[in-house]
Amino acid sequence: MSTMGPTVTEVADLATMPTVLGGLFVEQAHHPHVRMRERSLTRSDWLPEPDGILVAELAADELPDRTGEVEQRLRDDGIAKVRLDRLLTNDELVTFGRRLGTVMVHETSPKLQHQVDDGLVFNLRRERTDVTSDYALALISSNELTLHAEVCVRPVQRQPRYIALHCVEPSPPDTGGQTVFVPMTAVHDRLTRTQAEMLQHAHFSQFPESPPFLSWRGGRPVFSFRDFGDDLLWWRYVGPRGSLTAGELNETLVRLLESMYDPDLMTGVSWRRAELLVWDNWRFFHGRTRIQETDTEARHFKNIKIN
Ligand SMILES: [Fe+2]
Repeated sequence: MSTMGPTVTEVADLATMPTVLGGLFVEQAHHPHVRMRERSLTRSDWLPEPDGILVAELAADELPDRTGEVEQRLRDDGIAKVRLDRLLTNDELVTFGRRLGTVMVHETSPKLQHQVDDGLVFNLRRERTDVTSDYALALISSNELTLHAEVCVRPVQRQPRYIALHCVEPSPPDTGGQTVFVPMTAVHDRLTRTQAEMLQHAHFSQFPESPPFLSWRGGRPVFSFRDFGDDLLWWRYVGPRGSLTAGELNETLVRLLESMYDPDLMTGVSWRRAELLVWDNWRFFHGRTRIQETDTEARHFKNIKIN
């Protein structure tokens, strides 16, 4: 078993804590991130990859003996890719994941249950060419996916630490459909100390067990946050109030979103068939650019979550 398992962070149950301040964030057209998001997530050309992301080109049969190199790169950089000479079977993919931790049962919407193999491997396959307003179906439609930490509304213990994506069939280059990444440390660095402290006491109020939007784990800032787009984001603040107002918290969320969509921070993966990517969900926000290609519905990735 790997030594890279998550550090369990103590997060008090929000339901037992007094709400000091509550509020609602509704994005406005004039918020800077709205245009920045539109520009970055609807582009068809692919962004460059994060520096040094490729660990090795391997025969798939070599992967079990070389997984330690992937672990090391994950530890150093939080993201690692290997290029394989063939596709992994589901069993091989799960075995790889088990070297990094526990492969999680894939909880998903009933609408997507048919995409899950053996409870563990999710087939991220485009089934629809439209752009839908249905949150669950967006994954298998052409939608861009706004930046998020995976299942950030759940308690830390039920969030994946690592996510692996195995490319069965990529979108053709420069036709959108690119997985994109933004490092959380750099987002944190764009906040003032006061803003960061505020986010350490703010939670999604509809999810009483959700961690604070920002916490420190292993000496690094970790966001449990996602961009709700134009959906309503209800929040609760449970820290020392001082003179804090709901307006100030909302202004901090605008700043957080603006930082997340800073074009200087975003990188993407130039997918090729049979590549395997793993990243640390505590170190990167991720998302997807809109799929522009319409001729085929072949785009297909396999996905496992590890904690
Ligand atoms: Fe995701």
